[in-house]
Amino acid sequence: MRVAIITDNYFVTPKTEEIRSLLANSFAGVGLKPVQLRNDFLLPSNEGEKPLLDAVLFWDKDAVLARRLESFGIKVINSAQSIELCDDKGLSALRAAECGIEMPTTVLAPFTYSNIGYTDFAFLDKVTEVIDFPIVVKERHGSFGQQVHLASNFDELKEIVRKIAPIPMLFQQYIECGNSDLRLQVVGEKVIAAVKRMSLNGDFRANATLGGKMINYTPTKEEAELAVRAAKCMGAEIAGVDILPGKKPLLCEVNANAHFKRLMDATGVDVAKCIAEYFAKSI
Ligand SMILES: Nc1ncnc2c1ncn2[C@@H]1O[C@H](COP(=O)(O)OP(=O)(O)O)[C@@H](O)[C@H]1O
Ligand SMILES: [Mg+2]
Repeated sequence: MRVAIITDNYFVTPKTEEIRSLLANSFAGVGLKPVQLRNDFLLPSNEGEKPLLDAVLFWDKDAVLARRLESFGIKVINSAQSIELCDDKGLSALRAAECGIEMPTTVLAPFTYSNIGYTDFAFLDKVTEVIDFPIVVKERHGSFGQQVHLASNFDELKEIVRKIAPIPMLFQQYIECGNSDLRLQVVGEKVIAAVKRMSLNGDFRANATLGGKMINYTPTKEEAELAVRAAKCMGAEIAGVDILPGKKPLLCEVNANAHFKRLMDATGVDVAKCIAEYFAKSI
């Protein structure tokens, strides 16, 4: 079996490199000898030869490259379609609705051309008809909580939209959960580890990268089932699922290539090993 681990060539940090080497070492542990490739190893083209690969752990958001590899008949985990879905919080919300998965009420902003932006904000009246303040505004593509904002009134909402536009965005009901959320790590339809993340500085976003604290967490049956159903709905075999633990658990988002090092440290679960074992079994 010729296998590869593909990571991003441009977003390279000590954290991404650590995850890459954890995955590579774990692959060796299950008898696989992966080549480590960056997402520029092959430029998607309508021509060109199939690379000498049978299966790929696709640890990047380059869904177009993933799609090209799939078209050559290479097994790609996670699939191109799941990477596309997870990477777009708007498409994810629509997909979750198709699967009957409960999320906070979510409304997508209308499309506009990037050289025009919004020439009026009338659509915000429709948003506030169905979502009460505070309203969470999310850029459809974003990570680490960095593109997620909170508006407590109409003026703030308009100001945030003005700043973000013309970048695609969505509006979501704020769910009170004490500035905390849950991250459940799913591998092959099983929750293998979970943490509770808590923001300690008053920020409503519980992301670890923003300084949130993580503690080992045992999910309820309902939470674990929601995470597995959500990952499956997006087609993600390996997923970091964020859940908002409000009055009832609601899906926040599914991450197709979630950073798992801090979750590994907090739970003691060898996530990289679980991923390698699952990958070896699935190819
Ligand atoms: N609807 C919401 N209500 C309350 N908190 C939210 C809501 N959506 C997101 N958050 C908080 O913001 C964080 C980041 O949002 P998320 O959608 O996961 O984006 P990112 O991809 O940047 O992690 C979440 O982990 C959660 O703590
Ligand atoms: Mg998140």
